[in-house]
Amino acid sequence: MKPRILVIDDEAAIRDAMRMILEYEGYDVLTAATGEEGLAIVEREGPDLLFLDIKMPGMDGIEVLRRLTHLTDQTPVIVISGNVAEGGASASEAAQAIKLGARDFIEKPPSTERVLVTVRNAIDSNRLRTEVRTLKRDVEKRYQIVGDSPALARVREAIARAAPTTATVLIWGESGVGKELVARAIHRGSLRRDQAFVQVNCAAIPDELIESELFGHEKGSFTGATERQIGKFEQADKGTIFLDEIGDMSLKTQAKVLRVLQEQELERLGSNKLIKVDVRVIAATNKNLEDEIERGTFREDLFYRLNVVPIHVPPLRERRDDIALLVRHFSDWFTRENNFRRKTFTAAAMEQLRQHHWRGNIRELRNYVERLIIMSPGDAVDVGDLPGLGPARVDQSAAPAHNEWMRTATLQEFKSISERAFLVGKLREFGWNISRTAEEIDTPRSNLYKKLEQYQISEEKDG
Ligand SMILES: Nc1ncnc2c1ncn2[C@@H]1O[C@H](COP(=O)(O)OP(=O)(O)OP(=O)(O)O)[C@@H](O)[C@H]1O
Ligand SMILES: [Mg+2]
Repeated sequence: MKPRILVIDDEAAIRDAMRMILEYEGYDVLTAATGEEGLAIVEREGPDLLFLDIKMPGMDGIEVLRRLTHLTDQTPVIVISGNVAEGGASASEAAQAIKLGARDFIEKPPSTERVLVTVRNAIDSNRLRTEVRTLKRDVEKRYQIVGDSPALARVREAIARAAPTTATVLIWGESGVGKELVARAIHRGSLRRDQAFVQVNCAAIPDELIESELFGHEKGSFTGATERQIGKFEQADKGTIFLDEIGDMSLKTQAKVLRVLQEQELERLGSNKLIKVDVRVIAATNKNLEDEIERGTFREDLFYRLNVVPIHVPPLRERRDDIALLVRHFSDWFTRENNFRRKTFTAAAMEQLRQHHWRGNIRELRNYVERLIIMSPGDAVDVGDLPGLGPARVDQSAAPAHNEWMRTATLQEFKSISERAFLVGKLREFGWNISRTAEEIDTPRSNLYKKLEQYQISEEKDG
């Protein structure tokens, strides 16, 4: 959409000049000759940006700004100031305007270059602000811990107790129960929340690389070390390091990690300079480390170092009361992501989801709901729309596994999902302009409309 710009100035010549400059660049321009008129237009039209003259008869620019302060965070205001000798805004008025939220100034008479640069800057910085805001909200939402079962309440309590301390935390529980979410919640609840949260998946890094990954290395310290590398522990200085899947770490690496935990200092590979680090450690594992100690694959001393505050995250089958909330949460998330209409679940469907044995815990439930949202055609999800779940079973071990939907998807299902995702992507790219999108993907507009209907694609606010 073309940004809409309102120019409030009592001088017709300035309004005309601004209109010419801006319209030539493709902006939509509105004008007002008085402060009162300007305010009315702001209210009615919600422009994206304002140019505002300070010196005006009647309500002056300062007064207009004062009444718009609640908006200036979203709608940038640029002050048009003349020079004082010619009756423009004085320095103190300019300062006041800034205090009231004005973003920038242009001088009279307006030069094309200056006007356009100011507009572009204001729009860019605004876009950035909005992006940062939505990003933050998304991140919080993404890592939100959902559920109100007593079992989860105990986890929340443990998080609340552990978070404000610097104690090492060991999170354990089956795969997919939410261990990473717990680790992030602890970091968010700590004094280190504004510092780094550095995650290391110990299982994913080959053994010969893990030390260099954790502790860093100097250039030339081994073949292939062409650059100096700062390790994860150093990156996490003043913040938190999350050692995920710590049960998969080799004994040799365990010894080194233990030393860092004890001494709070480390050496990069290929250097013997000791570097002090101030790192809070959170570790997680889906293995039973006590068994691993028995088997001689995990160091007992490291275990005691890590296990200062143990937090157990129970499997989903021990907190079925969370399932309905989780299903709604994921369903809302994925409908928003895909620009679908919100779906409801019948009581029977919800009960079946509740009874199912989610072997892969919340991760499996989440994947299942994602697939469901994409595949089920109506606005209401009923028992018949729950592929693979069948009637509730008492014998849980007999429940079919279906965590990777790709394995069971038909060709038709796969095609539909891909087509839908492609269309949404293109529509976003072309600002939801149907004609333009249809043209770009070389299909008749009528066909695109048909697809929108078929897949229930709609441009919601965040589309
Ligand atoms: N209580 C919860 N509320 C909302 N989402 C959750 C919850 N618990 C887990 N999830 C989601 O489920 C998925 C798996 O969670 P997570 O990665 O934290 O599990 P994990 O225990 O670390 O699993 P693994 O052992 O396989 O690494 C993630 O997408 C996460 O966002
Ligand atoms: Mg994990």
